[in-house]
Amino acid sequence: MKRNVRILSGIQPTGILHIGNYFGMMRPAIALQDEGEALYFIADYHALTSLRDPLALRENSRRVALDFLACGLNPDKAALFRQSDVPQVTELAWILSTVTPVSRLELAHSYKDKIARGATAAAGLFTYPVLMAADILIYDSDIVPVGKDQKQHLEIARDIATRINETFGSMREGQVLNLPEARIQAQTEVVPGIDGQKMSKSYGNTIDIFGDEKEMRKRVMSIVTDSTPVEAPKDPDTSTIVQLYALVASKEEVEEMREQFRKGGCGYGDFKKQLFEKLWDYFAPMRKRRDEILRHQDYIESVLAQGAGRANSIADGVMKRVRKAVGL
Ligand code: AMP
Ligand code: TRP
Repeated sequence: MKRNVRILSGIQPTGILHIGNYFGMMRPAIALQDEGEALYFIADYHALTSLRDPLALRENSRRVALDFLACGLNPDKAALFRQSDVPQVTELAWILSTVTPVSRLELAHSYKDKIARGATAAAGLFTYPVLMAADILIYDSDIVPVGKDQKQHLEIARDIATRINETFGSMREGQVLNLPEARIQAQTEVVPGIDGQKMSKSYGNTIDIFGDEKEMRKRVMSIVTDSTPVEAPKDPDTSTIVQLYALVASKEEVEEMREQFRKGGCGYGDFKKQLFEKLWDYFAPMRKRRDEILRHQDYIESVLAQGAGRANSIADGVMKRVRKAVGL
C-alpha cells in the first residue's frame, strides 16, 4: 500500500519570527498539514552555527513552538518537534557527507553570504546543507515547503540522495533514499522587509508576527519610500507597502490601493496606516490563541514530546535501511 505524502519543514530558533517566515514558510506548511503526513521541526542543531547562548537557544526553541502552534499548527495533524530530539539525524549527516563533494558545498549562496557578512568559516556552517539534507531524507520526505532562499539547499539534498542511491542502491532492494521536492509559493517566495530588501532578522528590517501594537505600527510606519509628494501619482508595482498589503488584504482591497497609488492625492503615510490596520487584524486570532497557550505552559512540552516520538519512529526505520545499505 502506498503511504501518505510526507511533508517536512524546519525553522531555525535564532530569533523572533517575522512575517517573512510566516508567509514564506509557516502559512504554507500549516495549510499542507491537511494534505498528508506533516512533520515540522525546530532546527536547533542548525541554530548552533550562529547562536552560542544556551539560555537563548532553549528559550527561542520554546518560543518558535509556541508561535507555530499559535499560528495554526494542529498537533493532531502535524508532528512538531526539536531537531535535537532526533539525534540519529547527525549520524545520517555523517554518512551523507562521505558522498558530498566539497565543490558542491562551496557553491552554496547562503554559506558565501554568511561569510561575506563576517561569520567565521566554521566546518559546521560549511556542512550546514548536509545536515539539512539529512533532516529531509531521514523522514522519506516528499514535499518540503520553504521560502525561495532555501531552494539551493533543496537541490543539494536531492543531489546527495541521488549519489547515495547510485552508490548503494541495489536492483533487488531498490532506492535507499526518497527524492524530496521543494514547494515554493510564487506569491510569497520573497517577502520584502521595511527597507525593500528580503525580510530577514540579519538585515534588521523585520516586522515581527507577535510584536505589540505600538511596535508593529512603528515598524510599518518606517517602511522606506521615495519622496513623491502626496498629490503626485505613485507606482504601485515597485512599492513595498503594496506588496505587503497583498499578503493580508482581499483582491478588491489591493486593487483599490493600487488605484489610489496611480491617481495621486494620497500620501505614503496613509497607505502605511491602511497596511498596519490590515496586518494587525490579520494576526488577531493568532495573538488570542497564543495568549491561551501561554496559560497552559505544559502544553508546549507535551506537543514536542509527542512529535519527537513520531519523528523518532520514522527516523529509526529509515536509518535501519541506510545502515544496512552502506554496510554498517
Ligand atoms: P529562517 O529565518 O532562515 O530560519 O527561515 C525560516 C523559513 O522562512 C525558511 O523557509 C525561509 O525560506 C522562510 N523565510 C525567511 N525569510 C523570508 C522572506 N523574507 N520571504 C519568504 N520566506 C522567508
Ligand atoms: N535552513 C532552513 C532555514 O534556515 C532551516 C532548515 C533546517 C530546514 N533543516 C531543514 C528547512 C529541512 C526545511 C527542511 O530556513
